Amino acid sequence: MARGIISRYGLGLHKQRPLRAALGVTIMKRLAVAVAAALVLAFAGTASAQAPIVIKFSHVVSPDAPKGKAAVYFKELAEKYTNGKVKVEVYPNSSLYKDKEELEALQLGSVQLLAPSISKFGPLGVREFDIFDLPFLMSDDTRARQMMASPIMADFNKKLEAKGVTPLAYWDNGTHVYTANKPLILPTDFRGMKMRIQGGKVLDAVARQLGAIPQIIGFGELYQALQTGVVDGEDNVPSNIWTQKFYDVQKYLTVSNHGRLHYSLLTNKKFWEALPADVRPQLDRAVKETTQFFDDTAAHDNADALEKIKAGGKMQFHVLTDAEKKAWIAALMPVHKEMQGRFGKEMLEKIYKASGFVPPES
Ligand code: LMR
Repeated sequence: MARGIISRYGLGLHKQRPLRAALGVTIMKRLAVAVAAALVLAFAGTASAQAPIVIKFSHVVSPDAPKGKAAVYFKELAEKYTNGKVKVEVYPNSSLYKDKEELEALQLGSVQLLAPSISKFGPLGVREFDIFDLPFLMSDDTRARQMMASPIMADFNKKLEAKGVTPLAYWDNGTHVYTANKPLILPTDFRGMKMRIQGGKVLDAVARQLGAIPQIIGFGELYQALQTGVVDGEDNVPSNIWTQKFYDVQKYLTVSNHGRLHYSLLTNKKFWEALPADVRPQLDRAVKETTQFFDDTAAHDNADALEKIKAGGKMQFHVLTDAEKKAWIAALMPVHKEMQGRFGKEMLEKIYKASGFVPPES
């Protein structure tokens, strides 16, 4: 085309070269700009496709406790199964959020995963979960796990979802034992003791029924509260007692198996539902496998921790005899009765059936 214009206007050959060169430079410039723009766009596209989705996983226990180990296990699986599309940041030991703050942070979307004890849902305004704190309700591990994975949980899960929180799984951390600065063998031994509780109306009622003074204290502050005498005792699973070194600040341990520590792996509902289709199934798979890992690890670590605490020789152990256990159950049955009003007879019977709890004849 440039050649046509040149011939038509009778330009001499000696003039043709600079014009052709000038046109060539313009075209080259435009081409260069277009290529640069295309490169910028392509780069931007790749960069955004590669920016990983960050999942902050906050919890209150030691990295060496079953939950701490499970959080890291989940991170490894999630990052592997999504080929790095997801990055999981684990914050142990209440380093990001404490008991009191974490549920609100989850609702606000400041954190994406938590695994709190289900006894701590009070601040969410979900009180139904307190039923699982009824004393001696679930001592059979297999049954307890089956129950938390059964359709019975559907109504409970809905309560959480109404608060913008989705339970992805339940993790079973076994049964509670008591620790204190004096031996706790008979129900009357609790009288006047300041006992730390996690929260919830049932745990409060249990302490009061025993004549103790309940006090809610966050897990992150518990060691110091025991050390300074803010409270005289607490109940927990052996793996927490071991990893938090409560044996340094508590002299006596009673293997009572009176309660259970269940966690719920919680996420922000909107966040989880908005996950891309090539990420969510991989994360669901990671959750499922981590749940199995958690339950196996907890069973092993709690048995192991009990042995290690015993071998350490700093705490005096007492395992409730059958007769003592009967006396504890009898002393705590009024809590079951009192809570019938709170949960309803029908629900209570449903939970008894699922857990295998048989109330003693009164
Ligand atoms: C506690 O507060 O005693 C436990 O629930 C802590 C935990 O998360 O294991």
